[in-house]
Amino acid sequence: MNEEVVWVRELSKRKYIKQYKWSNILAMMRGGGKELEECTDDFAGRLVVITGATSGIGYATSREYASHGANLLLINRNEEKSIALCEEIRQEFQVECDYKIADFSRLSEVRQVGKELLESDLEIDVLIHNAGIYSTKKIITEDGNELVFQIDYLGSFVLNYILKDKLKEQGKARIIFVNSEGHRFAVWGIGLHGPTYEKRRHSGLGSYGVAKTAQLLSMIKFAEYFEGSGVTINAMHPGNVKTSSGSQNGRIYRWYKRNLIDRSAKDPQMSATALYYLGVSKEVEGLSGKFFNLTKEEDPAPPARDMEVAEELWHRSIEMAGLE
Ligand SMILES: NC(=O)c1ccc[n+]([C@@H]2O[C@H](COP(=O)([O-])OP(=O)(O)OC[C@H]3O[C@@H](n4cnc5c(N)ncnc54)[C@H](OP(=O)(O)O)[C@@H]3O)[C@@H](O)[C@H]2O)c1
Repeated sequence: MNEEVVWVRELSKRKYIKQYKWSNILAMMRGGGKELEECTDDFAGRLVVITGATSGIGYATSREYASHGANLLLINRNEEKSIALCEEIRQEFQVECDYKIADFSRLSEVRQVGKELLESDLEIDVLIHNAGIYSTKKIITEDGNELVFQIDYLGSFVLNYILKDKLKEQGKARIIFVNSEGHRFAVWGIGLHGPTYEKRRHSGLGSYGVAKTAQLLSMIKFAEYFEGSGVTINAMHPGNVKTSSGSQNGRIYRWYKRNLIDRSAKDPQMSATALYYLGVSKEVEGLSGKFFNLTKEEDPAPPARDMEVAEELWHRSIEMAGLE
C-alpha cells in the first residue's frame, strides 16, 4: 500500500467513537493506584533487562528486582549515571549489574544493543521497556521520526523485533511495556499522524497518545508471534508517579507539572511493585497481550485494539526502523 495512504488514511472516526465505553473513560480518570497486587517471591539469579533505568520508574524498578536477588542488565543513554547506578545496586544488593548505552533518539544505537544481546548467550527472564519521554515541542530525530514516537514506541519495537527469535528459542520470558493511560489521548488513533507530523498539528498530549497507542498495537502482533512459545508480552500503566518526566520541557509545562500533576502523584515505588508483580508473580503466568492499570487488567482504548492498523504499523515500523 502507498506509504502516504497508510499514514494519512482517514480511519473512520465514527468507527472508534462507537466502540468507546464508559469504562474506557473512567479508567483514564481513575488513574489506578487502588488495586495494587504485590509479589514477594524470590527472583535470585534471574536476569532482568530494563531500559531507561537511570531515573524515576526505571530506577525504582531496578532496585525492586535487585532487592529480590535478580541480576540486572540496564539499557541507558547516560554512561556516568549507569556506572553510578550499577555500583549502588551491586553494593546494596550483592547482585550482578551491567549496562549498555543506547540513546533511543538514534535508532542505530538501539539496533546495535539489540544485536549485542542477540549474539550474547544471556538468557533474559524479564525484559522491561521503560525508557520514555513527554515532549511539548515537536522535534524530529536524525532518523526522520517525531522524537516521542521514536523513543516511546519505535525504540522498544526495534529491541523486541531483534530479540524475538532468541526469546522464543529460550521458551520462556516475560516482556513488559511501561505504557500509559495516556494512550487514550489518541482518541482518533494513530492513522492521521505521519511519523513527522507534517500532516497534522503536533501537541504534547497527542504525540504521547500516538506513541503509546502504537506500542499497544505492536503488542498485539508480538503476542501473536509469541503465542504458545512460553514468552508473554504485556503492557501496563505505572500510575501517576513523581519522576523527572517532562523536565526538558519549557517553564509553563514545568509549572503545570509541579503544581497540578505532581500534587497528586505517588512514589515510583508503586510502579516498581506493580512491575515486579507482572514480571514474577505466578498469578499472571501465561497471560499475554493484556493491558494493566498497575496490576489490574483493563481494556485499552478502541484505537489501540485495531487489528488492521496493527498489521499496517508492524510493516511500516520494520521499514522505519531499518530492520529488514
Ligand atoms: N511518571 C508517570 O506518572 C508516568 C505515567 C505513565 C507512564 N509513564 C511512563 O513511564 C516510563 C518512565 O518514565 P518516568 O516517569 O520514570 O520518567 P523519567 O524519570 O524521566 O525516566 C525516563 C527514563 O528514560 C530515559 N530516557 C529518556 N530519553 C531517552 C533516550 N533518548 N534514550 C534512552 N533513554 C532515555 C531516561 O534517561 P536519563 O536519566 O538519561 O534522562 C530515564 O532513565 C515512560 O515510558 C513514561 O511514559 C510515566
